[in-house]
Amino acid sequence: MIDEAKIQMAAAHLLRGGLVVMPTETVYGLAADARNAAAVTRIFQAKGRPTFDPLIVHVADRDAAWDYGQPNDHALALAQAFWPGPLTLVLPRNPLMVPDIVTSGMETVGLRCPDHPLALRLLKESGLAVAAPSANMFGRISPTAIEHIGNQFDDFDALLLDGGACRVGVESTVVACLDQPTILRPGGVTSEQISAVCGCDVTIADTHGRAQHLPAPAPGMLASHYAPGKQLILREQGMPWPTGNEWGYCAFTGDDLPSDACHVEVLSDVADLAKAATGLFAALRRLDASSATRLCAELMPQRGLGIAINDRLMRAAGRG
Ligand code: TXA
Ligand code: MG
Repeated sequence: MIDEAKIQMAAAHLLRGGLVVMPTETVYGLAADARNAAAVTRIFQAKGRPTFDPLIVHVADRDAAWDYGQPNDHALALAQAFWPGPLTLVLPRNPLMVPDIVTSGMETVGLRCPDHPLALRLLKESGLAVAAPSANMFGRISPTAIEHIGNQFDDFDALLLDGGACRVGVESTVVACLDQPTILRPGGVTSEQISAVCGCDVTIADTHGRAQHLPAPAPGMLASHYAPGKQLILREQGMPWPTGNEWGYCAFTGDDLPSDACHVEVLSDVADLAKAATGLFAALRRLDASSATRLCAELMPQRGLGIAINDRLMRAAGRG
């Protein structure tokens, strides 16, 4: 049941330039009216995020999206196939609609239609497009439940909308559709799915390739992001786990774990990558809060959603 009164309050808050913590199917976002430069500036302040890292503009539907960015044929096909859903399209921006602060002054804009009933209701009720990064402090783990937000944005008078646990659990796939489609950030839609719709091989840009699309190296695409407070090392599948009762483990299936760990998180005992993605960030938070002093996470098979999970694990370990 959607709380319509709460939606109306949140829409009014956005319309007067306020910030709203908005649930999406991927992670929670910190939203503001995308056309209100002052409101968007407060997003950067609240997160402690450098302004050279552009924000994604969230829209209610495809028609609204094309007011903000200019789609090519690949973009039209991808939006048709995956919106609403965990896909962000980077397109030439309409400078009359998108202020510089949103795109860090670039001539492109990231657009996405989120697949969450509360987000869609909020977009429709307000009639706005909203700029929203993940609702975490800069460089830290993205929130996948309202409990992960706590009082972090109270000083900025952010209104919190509780939409339950996020279904996908990793952020959207960011695809540049300028000429040939290129994946700038692996995410909830797999490269296999994108290639199938585009009818061509789609490359996943490395850090260098991603940086070429940005005014400066963007944190979400560089090492040491999505980071827990404790040091984290990674384990290739089939390699031995480090042992000792100081360790906290983040395992995929958990079938070969040493018995003397301090804290264990198993992402999917049946080796389901979608389930592993859903639970990943909450597991990393619990490990961070546990009494384990050293953390080790197991890398997933490098296919499907495993590619997005491994990308986040590498960055959490400072090895992006
Ligand atoms: O699933 C998601 O995408 C979530 C939810 C809230 O929608 N949002 C999210 O936003 O992850 P954020 O700001 O944490 O990450 C957005 C990423 C950044 O790495 C940014 O550099 C990239 O998208 N990005 C945004 N606009 C871009 C553009 N015009 N060109 C290239 N990259 C862009
Ligand atoms: Mg983020």
